[in-house]
Amino acid sequence: MMIEANRKIILDCDPGHDDAIAIMLAGKNSKLELLGITVESGNQTLEKTGLNALNLCQYLNIDVPVCLGASNPIIKEVEVCEAIHGETGLDGFDFPNLEISYDPRHAVDFIIETILKSDKKVTMVTTGPMTNLALAIRIEPNILNNIEEVVIMGGSYSNGNVTPAAEFNIYCDPEAAHIVFNSGLKVTMVGLDVTRKVLVLPEIVDRMTKIDNNASKLFTKLMIVFNENQKRVFGFDGAPLHDPVTIAYLIDPTVIDVDFVHCEIDISNGSSYGRTNCDIFDYLKLKKNTFVAKNIDVDKFWNIIEEALRMY
Ligand code: BDR
Ligand code: CA
Repeated sequence: MMIEANRKIILDCDPGHDDAIAIMLAGKNSKLELLGITVESGNQTLEKTGLNALNLCQYLNIDVPVCLGASNPIIKEVEVCEAIHGETGLDGFDFPNLEISYDPRHAVDFIIETILKSDKKVTMVTTGPMTNLALAIRIEPNILNNIEEVVIMGGSYSNGNVTPAAEFNIYCDPEAAHIVFNSGLKVTMVGLDVTRKVLVLPEIVDRMTKIDNNASKLFTKLMIVFNENQKRVFGFDGAPLHDPVTIAYLIDPTVIDVDFVHCEIDISNGSSYGRTNCDIFDYLKLKKNTFVAKNIDVDKFWNIIEEALRMY
């Protein structure tokens, strides 16, 4: 399927080392029009993920509104991911003094206003917990008519990464994910099943370092810390670069293969709380609601990352 040029997107995120690379990927690609960045708590507290988003935009010269959103999930208490992303949420890079500031709108208001007034349907990309989007859907259901697709990094039809069953973004706010997956919107789920195949191995760090511009310097420094932390926590030799797969898919949809399945978020509060139950074999014959990524073209993905870094 060809995706039309200049898709309008809002990137909702919780930067985060891999969110940072997703922002870089979305910031200057001619196939995408980045309308704004909305932030929530996730990898770190909202205060920290917000600052990280602003620092990234200033450093990469990405001139879009950055709006602060939810500091807490809808029902659960907030949980952050310091073991992987560090005390700042983006350990490893020293940004210059910050001279830009937030757009004054709350992320949820920004999402609603921007989608309602857009002359063309907007694609929502979420690379953090889905609290902002879920709240926007509940507050103004009319936005559903002007959303093209929701592309999420989250979930897994195999194992989780915070519990045996659940992936971090869904686990942080399962009720929000439940709202989004049951909204009737086209949901494309890029889960751990594919993102764990794009590992920032030493040869990838070397390849990107050779580009030797501002963006590649950022990439290298962030990935050194990301790799160390992923090695310590999961034993991976290269960190899975989860979040940018969403944007890579919008730039070139052939980078992943998807299956259309029924997917239900476990909100039962048991041991599988936050699991994305994907009925890959269609056992249950229930209404399909999710395009779930099953395979990824790893070489194509790294080519997209390299091309994006070269644009800075
Ligand atoms: C997801 O969790 C976060 O730590 C990453 O930024 C990514 O969005 C992977 O499970
Ligand atoms: Ca993230």
